[in-house]
Amino acid sequence: MNEYDAKFIKSASDESGFFVTDKPIICVCGKSNVGKSSFINCLAERKKLAKTSNTPGRTRLVNYFDFGRFVLVDLPGYGYAEVSKTERERWDKTLSRFFEKTHICRVFALVDIRHTPTSHDKTMIDYLYYNAIPFTLVATKADKLPKTKIKPQANAICSFFGLTANDIIVTSSETRLGRDKVVSEIDKALEVTLSDIGEESEQEV
Ligand code: GTP
Ligand code: MG
Repeated sequence: MNEYDAKFIKSASDESGFFVTDKPIICVCGKSNVGKSSFINCLAERKKLAKTSNTPGRTRLVNYFDFGRFVLVDLPGYGYAEVSKTERERWDKTLSRFFEKTHICRVFALVDIRHTPTSHDKTMIDYLYYNAIPFTLVATKADKLPKTKIKPQANAICSFFGLTANDIIVTSSETRLGRDKVVSEIDKALEVTLSDIGEESEQEV
């Protein structure tokens, strides 16, 4: 058992199935196949908690996992060209309803370190930014790059989004690179959220 002892809670295909909880919600978003489900498994130190696949578009539902002090959400990947227009519109609607209806403690926004981010990634980051949803940019699959290319590529991704080099966590779900940084980012986010809740309940008295 690791620090989280994570368990699957439920899947939702649309907003009628969204999980309601008092626990802080942390979610993982990114393009299809970027490594969201693998990222969650790496964090949980479980191979098959979230289903992974070589086929993009595998996670079509909003999947909720109990991580003890918080709930982690695996969101359907965006930007996958091979799905029908109707299906894509359904995903887009589910994603935007999710962000509107859920009070989110932090989002981990994943991009593949090997590639220049796409316009879909830009839309996602802009959305988080302008809606003041706290997020952390995460570069995935660093094991697939030669070591010398990791830093320049991470810097290039940050400047694409207008962020600074400190704003990204470089990870690999294969080697567990960056996992400790993600864990401490979660700890920080939970601290902020819990102190906010404390202040709110003090005001109600
Ligand atoms: P969707 O659910 O389809 O949106 O995909 P996803 O973002 O959940 O990606 P998933 O975790 O299923 O990973 C997609 C593929 O990338 C799988 O074949 C994984 O094994 C592989 N993968 C994910 N993360 C890493 C990584 O850090 N290193 C390597 N080498 N492969 C990875
Ligand atoms: Mg997935």
